[in-house]
Amino acid sequence: MEARREISNRVDEAEQHEGSPPAFEVSPHIPLPPYLSDTYWWAYLHPAGVRIFERQWLVNLILWGNFARLRDTALREIGPCLNGRVLQLACVYGNFTERLAQQLGPMGQIDVVDVAPVQLRNLSAKLRGNRRVCLHHRDSTDLDFADESYDHVVVFFLLHEQPEQVRARTIAQALRVVRPGGKVIMVDYHRPAWANPLRYVMIPILKTLEPFAMDLWRKELADWIPGSICPASVEKKTYFGGLYQKVVITR
Ligand SMILES: C[S@@+](CC[C@H](N)C(=O)[O-])C[C@H]1O[C@@H](n2cnc3c(N)ncnc32)[C@H](O)[C@@H]1O
Repeated sequence: MEARREISNRVDEAEQHEGSPPAFEVSPHIPLPPYLSDTYWWAYLHPAGVRIFERQWLVNLILWGNFARLRDTALREIGPCLNGRVLQLACVYGNFTERLAQQLGPMGQIDVVDVAPVQLRNLSAKLRGNRRVCLHHRDSTDLDFADESYDHVVVFFLLHEQPEQVRARTIAQALRVVRPGGKVIMVDYHRPAWANPLRYVMIPILKTLEPFAMDLWRKELADWIPGSICPASVEKKTYFGGLYQKVVITR
């Protein structure tokens, strides 16, 4: 355990040199959530998994060719010139964050959190020293950022991976840190229409590989908004015969 932390600290120090990718601190007090290490270790934690999945064509294939469409619909919500602060909850394989960074105006800033240091290191390498994207080792359910401190929060395909109570806490945290009038933009799976043939293909895939994803077929994402919060609006749009959804909560 100590040896692993030592290696991790050395990598972080190395990343702090000028011209190197942005640095972040790994906190020994943030454990990996059990659903991540039990269910998704092969996709997000094992270094070989990161090497395999960090391919644009592969994430596009997993989303049945919809990666760019779903990425762009999320990013359009933020607008073409971002001069405020955006929080991205969890790293995403492919060029999601790089595209988000291209929308930065002169006063804009992006913070990305992830609970897995290996994912932050992978994103750091993709960002190639872009200092206006700050990486944070945090759990999405326990953000120590100030209330109402972000203009927008974006959550791309994280919520279906989380057990119900974890998902509710992530949504509550996103709504806590976004300012009134700001948006929480969520893109994720959704229950497809009866006539969508992928409905029948996806049931065994999700049940086998993504045990919490079927929750999103049964309930609306808005059902996990805490009762104490009354958003200005909740807008939902579905894609690809209903297999995917974008839900935008305006605080
Ligand atoms: C955003 S989701 C999946 C995105 C998409 N399927 C893709 O292609 O990358 C995967 C990321 O969520 C992170 N993650 C899972 N649970 C988290 C949590 N509680 N807090 C922060 N990050 C979390 C994982 O470490 C991983 O980097």
